[in-house]
Amino acid sequence: MILVTGGCGYIGSHTCVELLKNEYDVVILDDFSNSQKEVVEKIEKLGGKKVKLYEGNMIDSSILNRIFEENRIDAVIDFAAYKAVGESVIKPIEYYKNNVATVLELIEAMKKHNCKRLVFSSSATVYGTPSYVPITEDSKIGGTTNPYGTSKLFVEQILNDLYKSDEEWDIAILRYFNPIGAHESGLLGERPNGIPANIMPYITKVCKGELECLNVFGDDYDTPDGTGVRDYIHVVDLAIGHIKALEKLEKEKKGLFVYNLGTGQGYSVLELIKAFECATLKKVNYKIAPRRDGDIAECYSDPTKAKEELGFVASKSLEDMCKDAWNFENNINK
Ligand code: WQD
Repeated sequence: MILVTGGCGYIGSHTCVELLKNEYDVVILDDFSNSQKEVVEKIEKLGGKKVKLYEGNMIDSSILNRIFEENRIDAVIDFAAYKAVGESVIKPIEYYKNNVATVLELIEAMKKHNCKRLVFSSSATVYGTPSYVPITEDSKIGGTTNPYGTSKLFVEQILNDLYKSDEEWDIAILRYFNPIGAHESGLLGERPNGIPANIMPYITKVCKGELECLNVFGDDYDTPDGTGVRDYIHVVDLAIGHIKALEKLEKEKKGLFVYNLGTGQGYSVLELIKAFECATLKKVNYKIAPRRDGDIAECYSDPTKAKEELGFVASKSLEDMCKDAWNFENNINK
C-alpha cells in the first residue's frame, strides 16, 4: 500500500492514477488547501480502483500515526507542499512550516512504524541559477532565489542527513523541471486557486477569455529569442517517472538516489506560445513585460541518469502537453 501525501494535487493525482494502473493500493492524505475533493472520484475512475482518503495536514502527527496504524504502508510518495515561487517570497513562514516542518513529522512517523521507503517531490529550483545547462544531478545546488526553492533544498539536506544516520532508509529525491499538460481524458489537470503563477494555466485562461493577456516576463535574457527557456515535461510522463522510482527503491531495498525528471529539451516562452497556437489553433494574446523577480534565463535537464538507472524517458511532445492542457481547461467544471 502506498501513502500519497498531497495525492489530490496536480502531480499527486496523476501519480495516483498511474499507481492504481500498476496494481498498487493507494492511501491519500490531502488538506485540500490547493486541490479539490472531487478529484478523488476522478482518480478512482481513471485508475479503475478505490482509494482510501484521509483529510488533513502532516503537521498533525496524530493523523499520520492513525494512517500507519490503520494501514500497512509499504512506501510514501510525498507531494504535499506549497509551490508558488512568488507567494513564497511573501509568506516564508507558511512555506517553511508547510514544506519543511511537515516532512520532519512524516519521517518521524515513518521511522516509528518502520516504513523507510520514501519518494520525495523536489524541484529543479534547488539548482538556483545553474552554472551550466543542461543540468546534471551532480550540478551544484544552492543559491536558491526564493523560500519555495530553499524549502526543497532544506528537505533534501534533511533526507541526506537522515540516510547518513540510518542506511536502512530507501529514498528517491526527484527534481522536477516544468510539469505542464493534463490527463488526456480532461478529467485531471492543473487547477491552481486564484490567478495562475505558472505559465501554462495562465495561457489556457487567456485563451478561455478568463484573463486578458499573457505578460511575457522579459525578452532580454541571454537566450536565442531573449525569453526564458525551460524544460517542459508532460505531467503524465512525470507521474510515470514516480512509478519507475518506486520500482527502483523496491529493487534496491536501501539507498539514497537523486534524479532529474525532465525531457532534456529547453523551449523559450515564445516557442511555447507558438507550439500552443499550432496545437490548439487558438491565438494567445500576449505582450512583453518586465522580467519577474527570481526568474532565471535558462533551466533544462540532462535526463541521462533517470534513463540509465530508472529506464525513464519522457515520451510526450510539447504538442501533446499543449493539447492536453487546453482540453482540460475546456473540461473544468464538467
Ligand atoms: C516558466 C517561464 C517565466 C508566467 C516554477 C517553479 C518550479 C515549478 C514550476 C513547482 C519562465 C515565464 C511565466 C507568466 C511568463 N514549480 N512566464 N509569464 O518559474 O520556471 O518554475 O514553476 O513544482 O519549481 O520554480 O515556471 O511557469 O512560472 O515560468 O513569461 O505569466 O514562463 O518567466 O520563463 P518556473 P513558470
